[in-house]
Amino acid sequence: MAHNVEKDAVTGVDTTGHEWDGIKELNNPLPRWWLWTFYITVIWSIGYWIVYPAWPLVSSYTEGMFGYSSRQEVMDRIAEAKEAQSAYLGKIESASLDEIRNDSELLNFALAGGRSAFAVNCSQCHGQGAQGFVGYPNLNDDEWIWGGKPEEIMQTINFGIRSAHDDTRFSQMPAFGKDGILERPQINAVVEYVLKLSGQEHDAALAGTGQEVFVEQCAACHGENGGGMRELGAPRLSDSIWLYGGDREALRETVTNARYGVMPAWTGRLDEATIKQLAVYVHSLGGGE
Ligand code: HEC
Ligand code: HEC
Repeated sequence: MAHNVEKDAVTGVDTTGHEWDGIKELNNPLPRWWLWTFYITVIWSIGYWIVYPAWPLVSSYTEGMFGYSSRQEVMDRIAEAKEAQSAYLGKIESASLDEIRNDSELLNFALAGGRSAFAVNCSQCHGQGAQGFVGYPNLNDDEWIWGGKPEEIMQTINFGIRSAHDDTRFSQMPAFGKDGILERPQINAVVEYVLKLSGQEHDAALAGTGQEVFVEQCAACHGENGGGMRELGAPRLSDSIWLYGGDREALRETVTNARYGVMPAWTGRLDEATIKQLAVYVHSLGGGE
């Protein structure tokens, strides 16, 4: 649209014709430094398109003369890290658990690897800090159902407990109530005795009868004094650590219907070096023997 160009009286510069509340816009040219910076960025971007990946095509993209790929860069770094690890992993694979534990460099590597493998494979049952849940044992304490030596822990991890593996650790407590082995009053009595064994409030008279039931029915697996028996995976009953709960209600449920805790076997699913790292890591958690 043509209009009469008005000059600003003070500076003598043309105005654009835009005006706001009496303030007029001057038509100054863009500063030279700005223009040149602009031209340089345009040239730079064209150079960039030529050497680096830039434009999307239908099913690919312009790859650029440098052949750069951020994906490839990540792959290279991963390969580098694997290479660095493989020296350690090779050593771990051929070392015994004791050799790993006695070599501080290998031990540190194994603990770090064990911790991350635990987070991925074990924490959903045993908890992020291996603190356990009802039915899933705490692995930090020094109470072990099946054994807390490094080799015993590794056997548990390799073959599982009541798992589908042929070499699984296995045992089964009878369901004394459901299978009619004990009458309800006998169950109530033996539960009072277990309460007594574990130092809890109990009915002393009933616990007396319960002791007889215990010696006859339970001691073969849990030990004369309820100390537990690892060959059978029968937990200690004479302390305050419980897998399924130590109150009257939970004890009755255990004796009546029994339990069947399943821990999967990991051999074949995790490689040997990982299983060794896990065994060393679990052993280090606090209760290792
Ligand atoms: C699906 C659930 C589940 C997963 C996953 C699992 N566990 Fe277990 N784990 C159990 C149960 C249940 C028991 C107790 C079995 C029993 O009653 O004796 C157990 C027992 C154990 C024990 C024996 C504890 C003792 O006192 O003797 C160890 C050691 C163990 N788990 C380590 C691991 C490790 C290491 C992993 C990961 C590789 C893992 N578990 C993954 C369920 C699981
Ligand atoms: C054949 C061996 C066997 C006999 C006999 C047996 N138990 Fe058990 N008991 C076990 C096993 C194995 C477990 C662990 C079960 C599991 O984790 O699935 C267990 C678990 C328990 C628990 C749960 C412990 C916890 O930490 O939560 C209690 C309580 C218990 N038994 C009491 C008894 C009483 C009482 C008797 C006798 C009336 C008895 N058991 C007889 C093998 C036995």
